[in-house]
Amino acid sequence: MTGRVQDKIAVITGGASGLGDATARMLAREGAKVVLADIDEAQGNRVADSIAGAIFIRHDVTQEADWEHLIAAATERFGRLDILVNCAGISRLGPPEDETLERWRALMAVNLDGVFLGTKHAIRAMKKNRPLGGSIVNLSSIEGIVGNPNLGSYNASKGGVRLYTKSVALYCAKARLGIRVNSVHPALIWTPMVENQLRERGVENTEMARRTMDFMHPIGRMGEPDDVAYGVLYLASDEAKFVTGTELVIDGGYTAQ
Ligand SMILES: NC(=O)c1ccc[n+]([C@@H]2O[C@H](COP(=O)([O-])OP(=O)(O)OC[C@H]3O[C@@H](n4cnc5c(N)ncnc54)[C@H](O)[C@@H]3O)[C@@H](O)[C@H]2O)c1
Repeated sequence: MTGRVQDKIAVITGGASGLGDATARMLAREGAKVVLADIDEAQGNRVADSIAGAIFIRHDVTQEADWEHLIAAATERFGRLDILVNCAGISRLGPPEDETLERWRALMAVNLDGVFLGTKHAIRAMKKNRPLGGSIVNLSSIEGIVGNPNLGSYNASKGGVRLYTKSVALYCAKARLGIRVNSVHPALIWTPMVENQLRERGVENTEMARRTMDFMHPIGRMGEPDDVAYGVLYLASDEAKFVTGTELVIDGGYTAQ
């Protein structure tokens, strides 16, 4: 039996946690060889050790030298690069009048510079593939489509990811590079990112908070990491061979309202 991404080589940033972890497991289950990348070395190694054939490489998405090292290591180990999932990201809550330029820039560095650098170095590696082919999947958010009064920097970064994805998709398509580029837009998914945000806000009753967040989604619940991983799997696979520059919204109806 062959998997939906059988023998494809996939790099997943932010692979040590949440959606990156779930995506790595999903792609591996469907036959891909996965390279997990993250700044969290301990957790990244733990996840890689639990996935057959996976390797972990310490990597900071904001550093271009780290990208050069990561892509070189992946292609040296496995011979090519077929899939890049730009999943690493951070969020920050707060009113715009209290935001500092330092924190704004720090968030942009991870959420936007990281996607820019990853996309650049993935194109350079993927264009060498014969036969031509490659899929870049960028994690944006519903917050890249609709605004939130206390998520200004996050909204700006994820909106940037959404449109940058379309620009690069057009570039790759028109240059006939065979590389597809798409964005994914989840609503609230229960991951360490969301749990940490609650903790930062001093929320003690996380069960109650979770129920409140469930009701924000017309479907009646928050998402699970695999709800997103299935979407990434589709975009990464050849089933999506005519899909580029699209935005796959996975939000339980949140943005349909
Ligand atoms: N969880 C949600 O509700 C949700 C919704 C929409 C979009 N997203 C997006 O999905 C992606 C994954 O989110 P998550 O919920 O799994 O978050 P998470 O906090 O569970 O995982 C993020 C991972 O990124 C890593 N990371 C942070 N900064 C990094 C850096 N500079 N270099 C390399 N790795 C770094 C962290 O170590 C962590 O392992 C993010 O881009 C996030 O914005 C999440």
